[in-house]
Amino acid sequence: MSKYPEQAANQGGRPLVRITAILDASSGAVQSILQQDASFSVDLHTASQCATLPLQAGQPPDLILLEPPSSDQDRLMAWLRTLRMTAPDVPVLVIGERLSVNAVQALMALPASNVVPLPFSQNDLLGLISTVMRRHTNTGPTSAQCLSFMSAVGGAGATTLAIETAYQLQSMSPAAKRVALIDLNFIDGACASYLDVPANLRLEEVAADPERIDEALIDAFASPHGSGIDVLAAARSPFGYRCINAQSIARLLDVSCSIYDHVVIDISRWMQDWTLDVLAGSDAAIIVSELTVPALHGARDLALNIETENPNTVGNLHLVLNRMSKRVFGHSISLPEAQKALGRNAIGSITSDWDGAVGAVNYGTAVGQANPKSRISKDIRTLIHTLEAKADDHTTMEHLQVAP
Ligand SMILES: Nc1ncnc2c1ncn2[C@@H]1O[C@H](COP(=O)(O)OP(=O)(O)OP(=O)(O)O)[C@@H](O)[C@H]1O
Ligand SMILES: [Mg+2]
Repeated sequence: MSKYPEQAANQGGRPLVRITAILDASSGAVQSILQQDASFSVDLHTASQCATLPLQAGQPPDLILLEPPSSDQDRLMAWLRTLRMTAPDVPVLVIGERLSVNAVQALMALPASNVVPLPFSQNDLLGLISTVMRRHTNTGPTSAQCLSFMSAVGGAGATTLAIETAYQLQSMSPAAKRVALIDLNFIDGACASYLDVPANLRLEEVAADPERIDEALIDAFASPHGSGIDVLAAARSPFGYRCINAQSIARLLDVSCSIYDHVVIDISRWMQDWTLDVLAGSDAAIIVSELTVPALHGARDLALNIETENPNTVGNLHLVLNRMSKRVFGHSISLPEAQKALGRNAIGSITSDWDGAVGAVNYGTAVGQANPKSRISKDIRTLIHTLEAKADDHTTMEHLQVAP
């Protein structure tokens, strides 16, 4: 299944997520959360009246929410068994605190499922919906790990960090792994010039006939870099966004995800009609901020705006602080101060290393390629491990509590 699907859209142009909800005590809370967002259409049922699941044959929803009446584990088991037989591919979230061992086993037998522990907040619920649906779309053969980098303010470092992440993923992985760095900043993207490779992506061809985009075309557009990564970047153009469209971007990313093991995206904060879909379709979308008060406030506002505009990004949107200084004195901002200004924790921080960063761009390499001992490289490896651990947490159903 596509990571960047062209689904039915609501009036705001976002994909419509059809949810069948069979709920007990949480019915009101779930309804008030989901009703606030036009991208959800909810078919609501009362759990105590559903001895069997109210699903229409041949018309599975995009997501099922289950809350057994009075925590009745036998009822839940019966539902889960039915789902395994009739709709095994539909992602499932179970609301409840203590599940029986049998119910846990039945739940884990489904390819995309998780538990919403009580009590839950709006962010908890939207985050778990987003995670379980992302896991669902990532289970097919077309499932490169996809990381996007967006700077909160000009020059915060998204391009540098995207390049270094692609390089580190390439170096950390076995030789057979393939890594693509895709520059979606079509106005003044710098990936190709930072790595001194030709910008071969021809936007007119991509946009003219999205269905033509296949493995052979991506191979023709890709510029191999000496480090082993492939760079997909278009020549800079002040009118770069004019000749591209959402359908072509979705197809470009989808085919790339089927070819590569890792796809790293450098994306501009100037929103196009496809930007939010790219962020929501990424396994992690990283907003890069530098350590100044205006940049931190910019990052805070950007993250909130993105999450409000597309709740599918809740849970996979992270903030990274770039150019952290080790200075104890002077005017530099500490990590706790930065996180206070952001209004949330940063998932990682990258040490400032001007020599390393400038040396790399001047020689057309990634930072770690020019200097494997650079602090930037070390911090990026830590960031990659943190993101992987976070993804694993979700897939091991960290919230599960098994009743004795
Ligand atoms: N951790 C770092 N330490 C020192 N210098 C850095 C670091 N990260 C980035 N830089 C430098 O900061 C400058 C801006 O970086 P970069 O081009 O990656 O930012 P950007 O956010 O992508 O910029 P733009 O808004 O133009 O797209 C570059 O000169 C780069 O070498
Ligand atoms: Mg940039």
